[in-house]
Amino acid sequence: MLKPFTDQSSRPSQEPGWDEHLSFGYRETDALWLTRWSAGSGWEPGQLYEHQGATLELSPGANVLHYGQAVFEGLKAHRTREGKIVLFRPADNGRRMRSSAARLAMPAPPIDTFLRAVEAVVRANVRWVPRTGKGSFYIRPVLIGTGEVLGVAPADKYLFFVFGSPAGQYMGGDRVIVLSAAHRAAPHGTGAAKAAGNYAACLRSQKIAKSLGYTDALYLDASENRFIEELSGANFFAILRDGTLVTPQLGSILPGIVRDSILTIAREQFGWLALERKLAIDELLSDAVEAFYTGTAAVLSPVTTINYHGVDHPIGDGKPGPRTQELLQALEGIQLQEQPDPWGWVTEVTL
Ligand SMILES: Cc1ncc(COP(=O)(O)O)c(C=O)c1O
Repeated sequence: MLKPFTDQSSRPSQEPGWDEHLSFGYRETDALWLTRWSAGSGWEPGQLYEHQGATLELSPGANVLHYGQAVFEGLKAHRTREGKIVLFRPADNGRRMRSSAARLAMPAPPIDTFLRAVEAVVRANVRWVPRTGKGSFYIRPVLIGTGEVLGVAPADKYLFFVFGSPAGQYMGGDRVIVLSAAHRAAPHGTGAAKAAGNYAACLRSQKIAKSLGYTDALYLDASENRFIEELSGANFFAILRDGTLVTPQLGSILPGIVRDSILTIAREQFGWLALERKLAIDELLSDAVEAFYTGTAAVLSPVTTINYHGVDHPIGDGKPGPRTQELLQALEGIQLQEQPDPWGWVTEVTL
């Protein structure tokens, strides 16, 4: 059930301290935004609904339940020290949703609809955006095929909705494990799309990794089982002995927005040599002095140990490296408007 959102001016303010120890989890806030698409009429204008107690009604025949037409996005709103609410490269999330949707034969909202929905959700939930340094308001746009099917075919109806939850640190651990018998994506598959099914395919590996004491699995390529791809929900980087920053080239990995930002900062702000190329696990283990993973939720976290074939390999001296730290500071400085933003990545939400 969905009830139209009513203005929040009459709502009680939050209990003091609600944002003290935020985890990364689903939490109902005040409002979500939703619109529908049908083959005959295209996108409806869309509107805000109450998030508390919101549920979606789906036909048992909905495509998403059988054939998995589902793509999503993740981005964050931050509260700056000056009290502004800012988004990081939101149009890039809108563009990526469009390319993910195209891969799964789905219609996607135009970028301006995507941005309007994200901003409306932030504006309506502004009391849920944590104080600076306490976390962020994590925004989740989702697109699903709701039209009924029995045979394999695209749906003729879709839902696009956006909700958000206040969130603290995601992942954060610095030990990862290569599970050679599990791949995340294959060449020409769906690895570059933010398709829900990619994440379902990672759950078993993630569970095994955690049960062995690692934060996540580090996937190798499906053709040769030799080249680094990424983690279940983050891109991977290494800094080699000669100072080069290396990250796997695009293809079957998710084109991360933080990945692109780090490459840009490294090249244009720091003047480092930063390459997108194949990185073999053997080269990584013998030549890397620092490693880290990046993502909207994960931000930028050091990797200090990689387990391969049952052996823990320390990266560098087994501690988070200085250049990893430099990149994190530069990224967060831009995201929180504490450093200049030469690429125009940060958008203020007008309240
Ligand atoms: C599989 C995967 N790789 C990489 C990323 C990083 O992408 P972004 O930097 O756009 O958040 C994500 C999402 O955060 C992801 O789910």
